Amino acid sequence: MAAGTGTQKELCVQIVDLQPGDLPAVRALELECFSDAWSEKLLQDLLTSSWDKAWVLKEDETVCGYSNFRVIAGEGELMRIAVHGACRGRGYGRLLMERLLREAEEENVEDITLEVRASNAPAIALYEAYGFQKEAVRKNYYSGPTEDALIYWKRSGKSIDR
Ligand SMILES: CC(C)(COP(=O)(O)OP(=O)(O)OC[C@H]1O[C@@H](n2cnc3c(N)ncnc32)[C@H](O)[C@@H]1OP(=O)(O)O)[C@@H](O)C(=O)NCCC(=O)NCCS
Repeated sequence: MAAGTGTQKELCVQIVDLQPGDLPAVRALELECFSDAWSEKLLQDLLTSSWDKAWVLKEDETVCGYSNFRVIAGEGELMRIAVHGACRGRGYGRLLMERLLREAEEENVEDITLEVRASNAPAIALYEAYGFQKEAVRKNYYSGPTEDALIYWKRSGKSIDR
């Protein structure tokens, strides 16, 4: 996919599987975006975990975003989705979400959950735009600062065992 207009050089925007060489950039994204930033070791574990898929979104060769999707016992969890502050509002969050949902479809994952800080309006708007619905609140779940977690689910409606 290419982005850009007029005489500006067009950017090559692509989503690719996380590679070892991306870890420092992803660690920097973690530090920028999350109060409980994952360590480089934890990020490295994503490369070999059979539960996890992780992708980076690159503008040319620069990492602008990443996401991590975990599937356990047929149930999916959106663990991380993050876009560098300077790159937000360009549709990259949507692209990462669509990559993740495509993976879920390919893996026959019917239900996907996530948790989000109650004040995180941009992320909540993104999730709701893709059909996630709030089902529960975990009071004071987050620290630094203390805040409720909202638990969202996107359910296919196919499962009969709920
Ligand atoms: C959430 C996040 C990934 C969105 O990334 P982004 O690239 O800016 O998102 P997009 O440009 O693709 O926008 C997608 C949708 O998100 C919502 N959104 C994005 N920014 C928003 C804002 N500032 N206010 C309200 N809604 C917003 C809108 O619904 C938007 O759709 P629209 O443009 O059609 O209205 C980004 O804000 C981010 O990385 N935040 C920090 C990390 C984080 O909080 N991750 C989620 C943890 S649970």
